[in-house]
Amino acid sequence: MRKILITGALGQIGSELTEEMRRIYGSENVVASSRRIKEGHEKLIESGPFEILDINDGATLASVVDKYKINTIVNLAAVLSAVGESNPQLCWHINMNGLYNILEVAKEKKCMVYTPSSIAAFGPGTPKDKTPQDTIQRPTTIYGVTKVAGELLCDYYFKRFGVDTRGVRFPGLISYVTLPGGGTTDYAVHIYYEALKNKKYTCFIQKGTYMDMMYMPDALRAIIDLIEANPDKLKHRNAFNVSAMSFEPEMLAASIRKYIPEFEIDYDVDPIRQGIAESWPNSLDDSAAREEWGWNPKYDLDAMTKDMLDKLKIKLNIQD
Ligand code: SER
Repeated sequence: MRKILITGALGQIGSELTEEMRRIYGSENVVASSRRIKEGHEKLIESGPFEILDINDGATLASVVDKYKINTIVNLAAVLSAVGESNPQLCWHINMNGLYNILEVAKEKKCMVYTPSSIAAFGPGTPKDKTPQDTIQRPTTIYGVTKVAGELLCDYYFKRFGVDTRGVRFPGLISYVTLPGGGTTDYAVHIYYEALKNKKYTCFIQKGTYMDMMYMPDALRAIIDLIEANPDKLKHRNAFNVSAMSFEPEMLAASIRKYIPEFEIDYDVDPIRQGIAESWPNSLDDSAAREEWGWNPKYDLDAMTKDMLDKLKIKLNIQD
């Protein structure tokens, strides 16, 4: 029986993963945790066990694992790329020291650990198109540095201590429930809100800049399917490339125009986030994930656009 602890449970991924895992594994078996209470998450907090938990506090982490007899930790507490560049020390502290605490507790208490890496684990020297699973990783952001170091640390804990560590390299994630917290790919979420509210969006990423992206339902499956994957089949563990779609802002705008023909996009490029985007791949080769645990995404750009607009219309209470 799985007893799951989710850190960062009120974030963009965590808020939806908590709900999905409670549906699959039973509410009482999924403990949600966050460094602080955030407004708008009352339903999630009341739908099952919830703990205030800072992953930099190893003692409290260990006591929560004991209290609920946790055997699986999904570590989603992290600082994203753009916030990381404005506060590199905080990014290192949470992404690395926090992960170290998680792995130490997992080693002591025999837990599986799922921790996501990112397309940010690649850098300007990486092949940009169909980026291979195993390739050059010399990122130029602090976020990327923590992601490569995290991949290596998780590999190390598996090989050296037998901790069952797993993870994927997520691309930009698009969702309608909770906003992302300060990443470079966030434009691809904001654009849908603005399309519905104002029929216009000013984009901080330059036209022609391709990045890999994924719709949240596929991302949730990537987490759950890899957690449930047969370990004998896994040749990689902590850093599977997963890919669903790759687009640049004009392609996203064109997809939105299929449903909102008068939608307009213009540009006011943020040099910091543009620089980050240019250092990342255009698209990933995800054949290892497909072969080793059956990864197969369902949503392409237009299917995602249709669902995002339908769901956001309801959320924002917008009539046709
Ligand atoms: N979406 C993330 C970011 O932009 C990438 O992992 O920071």
